[in-house]
Amino acid sequence: MTTPKNAKNAAKAPRLRITDTTLRDAHQSLWATRMRTDDILQILADVDNAGYYSLECWGGATFDVCLRFLRENPWERLRQMKAIARKTPLQMLLRGQNILGYRNYADDVLYRFVSLAAENGMDIFRVFDALNDNRNLEHALAAVKKAGGHAQGTICYTVSPVHTVEKFVQIAKEQESMGADSLCIKDMAGILSPAAARELVGALVRKLKIPVQLHCHMTSGMAVASYYEAVQAGAGAVDCCVATMSGYSSQPAIETLLAIFEDAGYMTGVDHHAVEKENAYFLALKPKREPTHGAVEVVDVDVLEHHIPGGMISNLRSQLQQQGALDRIGEVLEELPRVRKDLGYPSLVTPTSQIVGVQAVMNILAGERYGMVPQETKDYVKGLYGRSPAPIDAKVAKKILGGEKPITCRPADLLPPRLPAAAKELDPKLIQAEEDILSYCLFPEVALGYFKWRALLPAERPLSPADLENAPKKAEAAPAPVAASVVDTSAESMRFAEIGRLVASLASQLGVTASSGAALPLVPVAVPAAAKPVAPAPEAAKAVPAAPVAVNGPTINAPLNGTFYRSSAPGKPNLAEEGTSVKAGDPVCIVEAMKLFNQIKAEKACRIVKFLAKHGDHVAKGQPMASIEWL
Ligand code: CO
Repeated sequence: MTTPKNAKNAAKAPRLRITDTTLRDAHQSLWATRMRTDDILQILADVDNAGYYSLECWGGATFDVCLRFLRENPWERLRQMKAIARKTPLQMLLRGQNILGYRNYADDVLYRFVSLAAENGMDIFRVFDALNDNRNLEHALAAVKKAGGHAQGTICYTVSPVHTVEKFVQIAKEQESMGADSLCIKDMAGILSPAAARELVGALVRKLKIPVQLHCHMTSGMAVASYYEAVQAGAGAVDCCVATMSGYSSQPAIETLLAIFEDAGYMTGVDHHAVEKENAYFLALKPKREPTHGAVEVVDVDVLEHHIPGGMISNLRSQLQQQGALDRIGEVLEELPRVRKDLGYPSLVTPTSQIVGVQAVMNILAGERYGMVPQETKDYVKGLYGRSPAPIDAKVAKKILGGEKPITCRPADLLPPRLPAAAKELDPKLIQAEEDILSYCLFPEVALGYFKWRALLPAERPLSPADLENAPKKAEAAPAPVAASVVDTSAESMRFAEIGRLVASLASQLGVTASSGAALPLVPVAVPAAAKPVAPAPEAAKAVPAAPVAVNGPTINAPLNGTFYRSSAPGKPNLAEEGTSVKAGDPVCIVEAMKLFNQIKAEKACRIVKFLAKHGDHVAKGQPMASIEWL
């Protein structure tokens, strides 16, 4: 342990606590969340000895990637970590009523999840909601208190005309009154400037009795300066990670912060030698774990200008690429702030970043604003994710919801208890402990895939780290779910049947059949026999390209590249049958694109002569999906 060199009397030196995010946010930001349990355990004793305030080690992406790609049980990771890290509290990121997923879950799932996490070793729960809707935090904070954990409230920092210091303080005060033990300012996009940090932290410290912690990303390069101002203004703790794992979209380096604050007379209690060992360890591990793809930039200048997180821009790029429309990125980036404004300025974090991003893409590709609306946008406008920071534009809400009224209650109040049904759905042979039911509730398809894989393991011998390393190669080959998505269907190994189940699961999770909001204007196009084939997107090109279909007469065409479905879920009837007639606005089929499900509706009354694509086929934008006759 070191003594701050400028401190005349160490006992009187101001204290700064450091949370190490190396085991969660840092590798999620830089290594596509690919750190393995064995990677962590080997260095954990040293990390535990370093004198950090807490170790952030669990969250939505770590949990999901454990099951999906690493073939590890995240609960087992937690127990193994706790067995070694006996001195430093373990910390997790909890998405409020979304727990670790992308939508609201029933209260019984939330309470049991938190209770099991605490029993297995979790100490500090950082609880946030993308909309800063405290109704979505209330029960999560209560669950943590009930389980004896430290409940940290959170304000998601964003910039908009309605996100004022007064508003943030009011949200934080409410969380304090709900029982929060401390408060975190979560700057996921790295856009909190030093001056803003000073003002916001100063106001919070004056109005709150609980301590304030700061969580920034280095994306724009401002985080170190913001930390300095925030701590001067009274923040008691900051989030950092070791140098190797720091920078760009990750946190600032612990080493930098120690140098700055110890020189300024602060006592951190952090052992420099232990940090050195930790950093050397991850430096050696880096070549094995760092993804080979992905641009490594030092500072993302875009985020300084339009406050759109870097991860979101790369996500939009890849979505547009899949649609063969990368050249429209400029229009989408201009549309995005408009959509955010229309939707009441949600902060751009999971899951609202996905909703705003995809809607902006849809508005540009459909050629009509809100002409094509995924179910998730409709749910958002309906209030099923919570209350938007500002009211949703009335005209937009009317266009998306039609006559439907938005809900005014806490979204989870509408959800019946889920655990009893979930337990019944699972094959008892696949389940080893109650925690498996929770994993299944949060990530149904992913957890089932893991359980089935686990059931095939030899019972007499646990897998060695080397076995595990090789086990998930196939799944690993698929693109990483780096960015938040409602459902990740990207695993190339996923067969169609599995995708079908995924559709069913998503539909049932949403409690509705997947459908889009407003009817998509389907312009009937007479396609000549030698129809000009639309250039398939890279995604579509991987599948068997649809043979050009000779069609005479009007057709319903795919509005964008995606996967064609005739029904909203397996076991559900087709939306329309060949030879039958449909009215204007009736659903005809589904095109799944950008991980969201778009119901394609008839523009006018017509008879479906023949479907020109098979259930599960990739379809390219403009490709005829059904030949029709107008009525
Ligand atoms: Co973060």
